[in-house]
Amino acid sequence: MFITNIFYKLYCRIFQNILRWGSYIFNWDPPKLLKGQGSLKGLPNLIFKEGFKKALVVTDKNLIELGLLDPLFESLQAEGLSYLVFDRVRPNPTLENADEVAALYKSEACDCFIAFGGGSPIDCAKSAGLRLVRPRTPLHLMQGVLKVFRKIPPIFAVPTTAGTGSEATVATVISNPEKQEKFAISDPALRPFCAVLDPLLTLGLPKHITATTGVDALTHAVEAYVGRSNTGQTRQDALLACRLIFENLPTACQDGGNLVARENMLVAAHHAGLAFTRAYVGYVHAIAHKLGGYYNVPHGLANAVILPYVLEFYGSKIDKQLAQIALAIGLEGPDDAHLARAFIEALKKLNHDLDIPHKIQELKAEDIPTLAKMALKEANPLYPVPVLMNQSQCEDLLKKLLPS
Ligand SMILES: NC(=O)c1ccc[n+]([C@@H]2O[C@H](COP(=O)([O-])OP(=O)(O)OC[C@H]3O[C@@H](n4cnc5c(N)ncnc54)[C@H](O)[C@@H]3O)[C@@H](O)[C@H]2O)c1
Ligand SMILES: [Fe+2]
Repeated sequence: MFITNIFYKLYCRIFQNILRWGSYIFNWDPPKLLKGQGSLKGLPNLIFKEGFKKALVVTDKNLIELGLLDPLFESLQAEGLSYLVFDRVRPNPTLENADEVAALYKSEACDCFIAFGGGSPIDCAKSAGLRLVRPRTPLHLMQGVLKVFRKIPPIFAVPTTAGTGSEATVATVISNPEKQEKFAISDPALRPFCAVLDPLLTLGLPKHITATTGVDALTHAVEAYVGRSNTGQTRQDALLACRLIFENLPTACQDGGNLVARENMLVAAHHAGLAFTRAYVGYVHAIAHKLGGYYNVPHGLANAVILPYVLEFYGSKIDKQLAQIALAIGLEGPDDAHLARAFIEALKKLNHDLDIPHKIQELKAEDIPTLAKMALKEANPLYPVPVLMNQSQCEDLLKKLLPS
């Protein structure tokens, strides 16, 4: 058993190092950016200038009903661009969603996507793009990294939550409700062509969604920063995101109309996306994805609850990294160990202040062995986590999330 463990750990670390060094051959340029209050208005002109003629707008019903897309429709019309709308994206988008969107794109001869919404519509457009360029390969066979091999149609991504960073990432996350599974596909082909960070679109985001999506962004930054595949640039992106989130998330929740806080949160989520798309996430996301697939627990909420437990599991191995994050958010302490502890306490306080619980209400004890197995299957060997977790450690961690 001991020997098997050593060999398995060695295998994971070799795999992660190969990916890490191999990643230098890819182009990691960020997407084109339209940024600032009212920047959405500039999008149709950019689409026109890039030579596209017919866009498929991928969004959800809620956002249509809120009237959030009306200014986009007006400016598309003013620019003389044709467009169609698919508004049936579910939170935690499904394989069926991706198929429907791909079929519509093809039958209507569209030439680009406008993905408008939270991570769900953006990921739905990415997954539909995959169905278009790899129609004979089921999506679950592309899960993991670098299995796409083809460029998907251009995506103009307009985030309306400040959380997933999907507008910046090379990842899509998709659910298969029949099998209660949710999985991620990562490939540079999935990076959107352009991202629009317009804070006017997030002003009406309800407090609870602002909080949980904001901590999702924080989780991206922290998991990337404590992982073993950082570059100078990902460290910088992650620290900037952490600082902006601690400075702005409480204000964005308490005073949703505060444009500065809203804009800073969009910028933070974007930089956290740039950080983790290169440096990966870790066990927090692996477990959160399984809770999303099994019980439909919203992604941000699951991450927010799990993050402190996983950081405590990593223990002193990440003191140095957490101390650096602690300093970036203005905490003080005599040494790395104290600073690291102070950061975890600050995280718990942030969750508490944002009314985020510390247990997962839907979690059932009898599901824990399967959930742990699936989470480890997603994480190992792919995620360059600071400390590798085994089945019984993962089960123990999940037990801590059981509602009392
Ligand atoms: N591709 C990636 O890199 C990546 C990274 C992290 C998470 N994800 C995935 O993204 C999905 C979650 O995305 P999300 O957290 O942004 O939530 P979401 O897109 O599922 O939206 C959640 C809810 O918020 C509402 N909403 C969104 N914007 C709003 C606004 N401005 N005003 C009012 N309501 C608004 C939506 O209508 C929806 O009901 C999950 O499937 C997750 O796995 C992807
Ligand atoms: Fe996430």
